[in-house]
Amino acid sequence: MTIIEAIELRTILDSRGNATVEADIHTTSGFGRSAAPSGASTGTLEAKVRLPKEAIDNAYQNLLPALIGLDAGDQEAFDEQLRDIDGTSDFAAIGANVAVALSLANAKAAATAMGLPLFRYLGGAFVNEMPLPLGNVIGGGAHAQNATEIQEFLVVPGDATDVEEAVFANAAVHRHVKELLKKHDIAAGKGDEGAWAPQIDDALAFELIAEATGLVADEMNVSVDMGIDVAASQMWNGEGYKYRSRVRSTEEQIAYIAELVDSYDLVYVEDPLHEDDFDAFAELNSQIGNRCLVCGDDIFVTQVDRIQQGIEKDSANCVLIKPNQVGTLTDTFEAVRLAHTNGLDTVMSHRSGETTDTTIAHLATAFSCVFLKCGVVGGERIAKLNELIRIEEQL
Ligand code: PGA
Ligand code: ZN
Repeated sequence: MTIIEAIELRTILDSRGNATVEADIHTTSGFGRSAAPSGASTGTLEAKVRLPKEAIDNAYQNLLPALIGLDAGDQEAFDEQLRDIDGTSDFAAIGANVAVALSLANAKAAATAMGLPLFRYLGGAFVNEMPLPLGNVIGGGAHAQNATEIQEFLVVPGDATDVEEAVFANAAVHRHVKELLKKHDIAAGKGDEGAWAPQIDDALAFELIAEATGLVADEMNVSVDMGIDVAASQMWNGEGYKYRSRVRSTEEQIAYIAELVDSYDLVYVEDPLHEDDFDAFAELNSQIGNRCLVCGDDIFVTQVDRIQQGIEKDSANCVLIKPNQVGTLTDTFEAVRLAHTNGLDTVMSHRSGETTDTTIAHLATAFSCVFLKCGVVGGERIAKLNELIRIEEQL
């Protein structure tokens, strides 16, 4: 037992310069701290956040007193208490930002009380596989204006010998893309996740990354694969997928994505279709699922009832996991377990608005996710990547 003795909540800065909620939990012999991230291309069915200051005031009055005295080692009971006091299905009352910060801080307090790193506390003795870093090198969509239409062009070094090599290979691709942009005289700032955000079309983004991965293969002898997050809910206008020059029907979108998978040997495609189209997801999955991860983010929102629907329809072979989409660690774990029991892979993910909190590196390892999706550069992104390198050292 490690009894919760004190809890503090505060607002801290996130990577977009907005306020977010940070929680500290002190127990008899442990301490845990965690902060809530936030999305820009959020799924409609995600747990609801409240304005940080308002949510914190409310928590001090109506929530925290009921958490003092609980055993931090009983994560399920702690998370159940959050749900009970909230009383809604989507954390609209206490705010999913408060919930997720508290839930993760509680697990970290319990882990320190037992003298274990979080990944070991949650994953146990048999954790022995590291997730590979999946990182965003060129992006646009909701994360940068006037840049690419596909939200994220991602890379993952599938045959890297270890995490350290993989992290540096992704960084090398990011650096080469910058040099190639310069060579073509294309100016580029960065989007919210640290990816380059040039005003180029999607075809050129693919070409530049293919060239950059070729250079990295020569230099480092690592082959780096490509993936995408289409974030197609953002393009869906109720009838079709809106691109700058045209609208694609659902059938055309499926054909387009399948063609991209073959042209660029994509190993990962996230949200290729909008968040309610389980059937179109299933059609695409039947076409490309044997050679590519078809991953659901907005469609599943880390929630078991949605993942269950996806399993029944065979809509995807991979689930994106974002703890703040559902609000508690217990619910996050249930989502992962349901996916894995049914043969689907999982990818643990950051949000576009992040802090230097490194918890997801531990969760990705503890829960045997295939990838940790968390960007390539930028302080709040490298905090997680560097933690992953440290975790690998301990395994
Ligand atoms: P978000 O985007 O964090 O802005 O929602 C990330 C994603 O779509 O995967
Ligand atoms: Zn996504």
